[in-house]
Amino acid sequence: MSSPPTVMSSARVVVVGAGLAGLAAASTLVQAGFNNVQVLEAMSKPGGRVNTTRPFGPDIIELGANWIHGQKGNPLFDLAKQHGLLSEGTSATAMCLPASVTPRDYFFNEGGRQLPPEDVERVCSLFSKLTSRAFDNKLEKRYHSESLGRYLDEAFAASPLASSVKDAAKIFEWCKRSECTDEASSSLYEVSALQISEYTALPGDFFNCLGPGGYQAVADVLLRSLPPGVLLCDRQVTRIQWGREGEAHPVRVLCAGGQEFKADHVIVTASLGFLKERASALFEPTLPDAKMRAIERLGFGTVDKIFLDFGERFWPEDCAGIQLVWEEGPEDQGVYRLMSEGDAWKATWYKKICGFDIVARHPTVLCGWITGREAQYMETLGEKEVGEVCVRLLRSFTGWQVPEPKQVLLSTWWSNPYVKGSYTFIPHGVSGVREHKALAAPLPPAATHTGAKPLQVLFAGEATHVKFYTTTHGAYITGIREAQRLIDLYVDL
Ligand SMILES: Cc1cc2nc3c(=O)[nH]c(=O)nc-3n(C[C@H](O)[C@H](O)[C@H](O)COP(=O)(O)OP(=O)(O)OC[C@H]3O[C@@H](n4cnc5c(N)ncnc54)[C@H](O)[C@@H]3O)c2cc1C
Ligand SMILES: *[C@@H]1O[C@H](CO)[C@@H](O)[C@H](O)[C@H]1NC(C)=O
Repeated sequence: MSSPPTVMSSARVVVVGAGLAGLAAASTLVQAGFNNVQVLEAMSKPGGRVNTTRPFGPDIIELGANWIHGQKGNPLFDLAKQHGLLSEGTSATAMCLPASVTPRDYFFNEGGRQLPPEDVERVCSLFSKLTSRAFDNKLEKRYHSESLGRYLDEAFAASPLASSVKDAAKIFEWCKRSECTDEASSSLYEVSALQISEYTALPGDFFNCLGPGGYQAVADVLLRSLPPGVLLCDRQVTRIQWGREGEAHPVRVLCAGGQEFKADHVIVTASLGFLKERASALFEPTLPDAKMRAIERLGFGTVDKIFLDFGERFWPEDCAGIQLVWEEGPEDQGVYRLMSEGDAWKATWYKKICGFDIVARHPTVLCGWITGREAQYMETLGEKEVGEVCVRLLRSFTGWQVPEPKQVLLSTWWSNPYVKGSYTFIPHGVSGVREHKALAAPLPPAATHTGAKPLQVLFAGEATHVKFYTTTHGAYITGIREAQRLIDLYVDL
């Protein structure tokens, strides 16, 4: 039996996944002097949920992450700024347009009538006041065990606005559907009202846009810091054996196709969606109960984007987006409950599309947003059918002359076998802090009395951050956190 390597430089570390968490971990380790780092990425390109593409010409489209959320205390914002990767545009609007344009959203109802902007404004500001109360941990006690959806319904019903503004309830439903995009949930009735306050928004603008290189340029900064050969793509990890006491290296990582890597430590950054599906088969021995419970309990929802390139702009120049207000939406409580039981919701999946936003750098492109099971169903339909449905919606809601789209592009985060969804949320009835921590805990812990080699399996990725889950900076920070855990192990020896 050989003793564990006591020098950092010879310790073998495998990082599973080349998303922001995996790249940050590898980059940090290499810079600290680890000379045996191997990143294994299942897909043919690094980036993970960062996917910058150019389907409509030279300018970028982000199929995954688009904004850097918050500035102060955000190391990813600092990294982007330091390398000159931020957009020159203003972030006063989420679209990051030149400061001279002040666009606004156009809301239409099913009858093809445009809703008065002042009505929309009043209902939406009530909505954001009520959600802020949840985010700021200022909920009345009686809502503590409620879902976010129920809390919002009750608080809205108690407001005078509910009866004084025409169509207030329908606009409020739109706000709830739109909030599902932030929460990656099918319905706000799935999301905890209380736990949402754990998520921490960093100070400074919430929507910071990247320059012409997009998020890929941020990933590239990290990639450039890795020596050649560290990153291997098309390496699907199928099994992680750990606790191989008595072996020179306690961890063995197996890939599809038979390649194997012996290691002292493995940092797993696969998404929570992937772990939900694969964790029980991936690890040998099986992960401890607390870890499996965290994987099961935390929520991982789907958010998808639908890009439509019309080749011309048919909306007014000051229009930031076309928003759809339904007579009865999929978030309407009774309907949601009823429809959960059968397949009926599939026939009206498109009611889950919040609306279509304009897209930075693409004056003739709109981006539709859809979440939850309806997004998952949309992914099965294909570009042609989804495009046709969107055009029908745009025509009937706006009454405008809407041309056929020249190109349609869908994100398919649920169908992606290495992601299986979009990002994490905390379901109603679950303690986020407890489960995020359980998910992040290394195996075995740094200090054991069992004689087992410490820190064989470590976990990073967006879902393992208590406060910044769902975000790119959360992912990035957790990668550095786990690398630092290993650095500390060797420095302390
Ligand atoms: C549509 C969408 C929009 C978003 N918008 C924003 C936004 O505007 N701002 C923001 O901050 N965040 C946003 N996010 C979230 C953000 O993209 C993620 O939180 C972040 O990129 C996650 O990084 P990660 O490294 O934790 O995971 P991933 O990026 O998922 O990286 C994990 C990697 O592991 C690989 N992998 C998985 N299993 C295996 C295996 N068995 N073997 C080998 N490799 C494997 C995967 O292929 C993947 O590359 C968005 C996400 C989506 C989907
Ligand atoms: C990014 O999206 C493109 C287009 O859908 C796809 O072909 C590619 O595999 C994706 N890459 C990653 C890393 O997800």
